[in-house]
Amino acid sequence: MDRRPIGVFDSGIGGLTVVKEIMKILPEEDIVYFGDTARVPYGSKSRDTIIKFAFQDSRFLLSKNVKAIVVACNTASAMSLGELQESIEVPVIGVIKPGAHAAVRASKTGRIGIIGTEGTIGSRAYENAIKKLYPEAEIIGHPCPLFVPLVEEGWAGTKVSYLVAEEYLKPLKDVDIDTLVMGCTHYPLLTRVVGDVMGQDVTLINPAEETALELKEILMEKGLQNDPENNPSYRYYVSDNPDKFSRVGSNFLNRDISNIQKVDIEK
Ligand code: SIN
Repeated sequence: MDRRPIGVFDSGIGGLTVVKEIMKILPEEDIVYFGDTARVPYGSKSRDTIIKFAFQDSRFLLSKNVKAIVVACNTASAMSLGELQESIEVPVIGVIKPGAHAAVRASKTGRIGIIGTEGTIGSRAYENAIKKLYPEAEIIGHPCPLFVPLVEEGWAGTKVSYLVAEEYLKPLKDVDIDTLVMGCTHYPLLTRVVGDVMGQDVTLINPAEETALELKEILMEKGLQNDPENNPSYRYYVSDNPDKFSRVGSNFLNRDISNIQKVDIEK
C-alpha cells in the first residue's frame, strides 16, 4: 500500500478529462494536478520546448511526492515520454499507447482517423503505436489546432465550436473511417460536437479511459495502490489564471475545484 498521490500534468485544463477517468477507476487515490495554463498550447511548440516543459512539470509533481506521473497531454506524451521514463524514478504513463489500444479494439474496418494538435499529428506517434498492433490499419491524421483554445475559453458546444468542427472534420468524413481517436486531452470536452459532426457510424475514442485502466494495472503490479478506505483528496496547481481554470474545470468535473494554487513553474 502506498499513500502518496498520483501526479497528472497537462498543458492546461484538458488533462481534467484524464483526471475524471482516474477518479472513476481509482476512487481511493489522491491526485495532484498541474495545468500549465501560462504556456498552453503545447501543440504548436517545438520538440525541444515540449521536452523542457515536460521535465519542469514532472519535477514540480515530484516535489509533491507523487508515486506515479500521468502525462495527460498528448503532445507531451508524443514528444517526451521516452525521455521522462528514462530519467524519472517513479512510473510515467502517457496517453498514446492506451489510446492506440482502444482504437484497434474498436475498429472493424481498420480505417482509423486521429485528430490532435499539429505536434501530435506531425510526430506520427499514434500512427506508429496503432501500426504496431495492427499493421494493415489505414490511419488518417488531421490536426485541429483551434479546438484547444475553444475548450480553454469554455466554448465547447457553442455555434462557433460546431462551425470549426465542420471545417476541420470535412476531410475525415470524406474517407470513410469507422473510428476516430480524440488525440488531445482537450477534445473529449468536444465529444458531443465531434460526434454530431461525424455521425453515429464513427466510434469516438477517448484515450483517457484506457490510460486510467493502464495506470490501475501498473499500480497493482508494483504494489502502489492506496488504502481502499482512503477518502481521496484532489489538489490543483496552475501556472496562470486559476479563476478561469476553476470556472471551466468545475463545470467539467461537476465538482467544486476552487482550491487552486498558482505556481511559477520556471523557478
Ligand atoms: C496542447 O497543449 O496543445 C493540447 C494538449 C494535448 O496535446 O493533449
